[in-house]
Amino acid sequence: MKNVLNILDLSVEEIDQLIATAEDIIKDPIKYSEKCKNYQLATLFFEPSTRTRLSFESAMLALGGKVIGFSDPNSCSATKGESVADTISVVSGYVDIIAMRHPKEGAPLVASSRTLVPIINAGDGGHYHPTQTLADLLTIHKEKGRFENLTIGLCGDLKFGRTVHSLIEAMSRYTGVKFVLISPEELKLPTLIEKDIESKGISIERSNSLEESIGKLDILYMTRVQKERFESEEEYYRLKDLFILTEDKMKLAKPDMIVLHPLPRVNEISTAVDSDKRACYFKQAHYGRYMRMALIMKLLFENDGTREDRFDVKDKIALKYKCSNPHCITTTEPELQNLFVPTNEGDGEYKCIYCDTKILIK
Ligand code: NCD
Repeated sequence: MKNVLNILDLSVEEIDQLIATAEDIIKDPIKYSEKCKNYQLATLFFEPSTRTRLSFESAMLALGGKVIGFSDPNSCSATKGESVADTISVVSGYVDIIAMRHPKEGAPLVASSRTLVPIINAGDGGHYHPTQTLADLLTIHKEKGRFENLTIGLCGDLKFGRTVHSLIEAMSRYTGVKFVLISPEELKLPTLIEKDIESKGISIERSNSLEESIGKLDILYMTRVQKERFESEEEYYRLKDLFILTEDKMKLAKPDMIVLHPLPRVNEISTAVDSDKRACYFKQAHYGRYMRMALIMKLLFENDGTREDRFDVKDKIALKYKCSNPHCITTTEPELQNLFVPTNEGDGEYKCIYCDTKILIK
């Protein structure tokens, strides 16, 4: 049985197959309308969502399946203090597949240790969001016709933007990809992700000017500054409007550059850009539904009933240290063991297995 917690849980070949299925669904949706007739999906959303939850639900309904779930943590037993582990132990006995979103990083990993059915991470804190990446990949495939040799500008909140982290991991597997990271210093990409890309020999350029960088891009991936992850509101207001894509900046871009955004947009793309044929963000949101349909079918039909054990890693160690990330699931589920693995850097550097936060032990 496969869980999708991270986009790297899907190989490049599996992504190609999902894209082929999604394209076939777009061509002939009726052919798929009863594929999941006897299956149920649970959408467990401990954090707000419009697109992701509704597109998962719409995907399952379009496959002839049924959906249960909640969209507000206040309406489930989390408010009574129930742990993620217990919620999943219960719900996975009611349904055939679970899509979950949680504000704590690593919550889906905890879920995977208890579940009886496949778990799909629909976003965990500022960590990962693999199914948004599936929507992004189908859009890139349809608009650019390739994944190789693309220069991708990622602009805005690269620190907390989970869609950025998953997209970078996915695109790092293709040859000739270059990243241009456009953000203020305070919102730069976590160093572990940056080091990881560099260790693969991928070219990275850092920029703090959208005007200066836009002309070299094949793809511009805009993001919202993630207000809900800031410790201080003042800091959010100071950083939120630093990068705004306007019609004037679009004049500096290549005629075939595409603009993506996972949405919701706050004001980082002027609405005047929406009518530019290079603006693909609404298409991208629609494509997400087809990729989720393809993914639901894959995980359901390939479920052999065996359970994954991601905690069974030989080089994993229990340290007396606690993870320092305030958004880590270990902060709210105190009975979880603090587990770390050494990073590629070695030299006393470890990362938390739940949220990938780095700690140094000297
Ligand atoms: C994104 C998310 O939730 O991370 N939205 C989405 O799922 N399409 C981006 C965001 O909230 O800014």
